[in-house]
Amino acid sequence: MTHKQRNILVTSALPYANGPIHLGHLVEYIQTDVWARFQRLRGNTCYYVCADDAHGTPIMLRARQDGITPEELIAATQKEHEADFADFHIDFDNYYTTHSEENREFASSIYLKLKEEGHIKTETIKQAYDPEAEMFLPDRFIKGTCPKCGADDQYGDNCEVCGATYDPTELKNPVSAVSGATPIEKDSEQYFFKLSDFSDMLQQWLIEDGHVQSEIANKQKELFEDGLRDWDISRNAPYWGFEIPGAPGKYFYVWMDAPMGYMASFKNLCDKTAASEKPIDFDAYWSTDSKNELYHFIGKDIARFHTLFWPAVLDGAGYRKPTGVFCHGFLTVNGQKMSKSRGTFIKARTYLEHLNPEYLRYYYTAKLSSSVDDIDLNLEDFMQRVNSDLVGKVVNIASRCAGFITKKFDNQLSAELPEADLYNEIVAAGELIAQHYENREYNKAVREIMAQADKANVYIDENKPWVLIKEEGREQEVQKICTQGLNMFRLLMTYLKPILPATAKKAETFLNTELTWGNISEPLLAHTINKFKPLLTRIEKEQLDAITEASTENMPTTENKPASGPLADDPIADEISFDDFAKIDLRIARIVKAEHVEGADKLLQLTLDLDGQTKKVFAGIKSAYKPEDLEGKLTVMVANLAPRKMRFGLSEGMVLAAGPGGKDLFILNPDDGAVPGMKVK
Ligand code: 2FM
Ligand code: ZN
Repeated sequence: MTHKQRNILVTSALPYANGPIHLGHLVEYIQTDVWARFQRLRGNTCYYVCADDAHGTPIMLRARQDGITPEELIAATQKEHEADFADFHIDFDNYYTTHSEENREFASSIYLKLKEEGHIKTETIKQAYDPEAEMFLPDRFIKGTCPKCGADDQYGDNCEVCGATYDPTELKNPVSAVSGATPIEKDSEQYFFKLSDFSDMLQQWLIEDGHVQSEIANKQKELFEDGLRDWDISRNAPYWGFEIPGAPGKYFYVWMDAPMGYMASFKNLCDKTAASEKPIDFDAYWSTDSKNELYHFIGKDIARFHTLFWPAVLDGAGYRKPTGVFCHGFLTVNGQKMSKSRGTFIKARTYLEHLNPEYLRYYYTAKLSSSVDDIDLNLEDFMQRVNSDLVGKVVNIASRCAGFITKKFDNQLSAELPEADLYNEIVAAGELIAQHYENREYNKAVREIMAQADKANVYIDENKPWVLIKEEGREQEVQKICTQGLNMFRLLMTYLKPILPATAKKAETFLNTELTWGNISEPLLAHTINKFKPLLTRIEKEQLDAITEASTENMPTTENKPASGPLADDPIADEISFDDFAKIDLRIARIVKAEHVEGADKLLQLTLDLDGQTKKVFAGIKSAYKPEDLEGKLTVMVANLAPRKMRFGLSEGMVLAAGPGGKDLFILNPDDGAVPGMKVK
């Protein structure tokens, strides 16, 4: 089958130029990079561009805080970002910045075009103003008491305790996070992009034509029902960004010029290639009649900007719209949000100081699908999976076969394959693997590749070249078996090349051939290879521990962190949302029976009554309580905890107790009046 060669441009979201790249960011860069490399490996043209997102209030304030200019801050950050990406083998064709002349040019020409077409309006609105810092305040820079639940220290746009969203003017006791002053309200004229003009086009593009995942389209549907709100694209000075043409003192809001950074970075790439043999034509990718494909990889949190504003801006300004916007979920580490106090907020650089980037590339890929579900980096599972799949299965094939070919056969592969059918089966699996890559179902691609690796290992296990080599007259057989093994290894490494570019490169040196998808049906026969060098080593537990340790910050939860006492020993955990808390069903329970557990020195088994329903739980309180002292008492239990199989039986919940342990353990008692079954909230 011949494929028509495709021309593709892909992007990843532009990281803000005021913070380091961390493992959360890398989900997206790895996802995009694997896709771009896959496309190239299949013979398509695929450019991958990105840039730093260099504008906005946080960057302006951060530079001020550090006593440097914003230009200095963004230059230093860009350098770090580029080094992190390069070391993770993120193969951009161009990496740029939104603070560039090209981007200024796009911001201004696109705006003027939108204005000319009647898609811009002005309106005077009331906004929070810091009289001390003499600046208008973005919602994020106003803090105060939540108008819904009364929680202190909440942001101006939403409450992290109860989840309410509101207008900054509704916040009680508001203060400016910049100066601490009480904000006042001030009128100012702002520029709006009339998103409502594009309602029909967007519904068609998003919902009918399916340019985004259905989960995302369904979510945006609701917005059309209430009518699309026009979008404030201007900010008042002082602001770090581009001034709006013809509007002195007004700047483009960072989210207006950020996605244009995709075009600016690509334009910069085109200009660099202008004098080369293969100049890239900007218009071929961005004009309305473009036949080429354009995809944006982004996180689900910024879907609104990319699936409503951005296509509308492009449409209004006379450019093509994206072929697809691919959203992914967030990263959790060990099942939880990344946390500095738990040592799971891991910077790209910290990881690189201890581990090979390809391990992470492999693990993320093994877990990523085309859905917007979050993915979890479970460190224990990460180590096991890399060690068993990459080292134990794939590399192992080569290391078991290479030595004989080098030592006994002067690096020569045999002239035929003993099991051509098996080889062809693995070749045939390539089409399915390619489909999975194409559809961003990487987890399925990896599963399929590993299934083929299992077959190859079974073949070697069954044919035992290390046994045959000791038997007289069977040398030719050994050469053939190892040739078969190394050819299967070559296929597997070709399939893994988008994920493991550096290991694939080493395999190319070893096999003395380039790994390309186009020629896999031709095995390497009567071919000279090079001496085998170890390709990948196992992850050791100590390396993971070192990463966690280097990432752990002891953060005081209050300004005056106690030096000793319960809080010093066990600081307050990371904040959770009200919704997280509401999942826990706490109930009053009566301890009807308390018993020793044979063979257990810490546990008592408690039978709890919740208004007629009984639950049996194990509690580690034997050191502090005698069973007879507990019977008849009321306490508090977690009633909806998944039952846990323990060595001594099933535990159907948990009772709550305070204290460090030993004699100092204190179970909770409700006040008089509470009865079994009552909900604690
Ligand atoms: O959310 C973010 O991190 C933004 N800096 C992403 C911008 S993507 C694009 F639109 F520029
Ligand atoms: Zn609240």
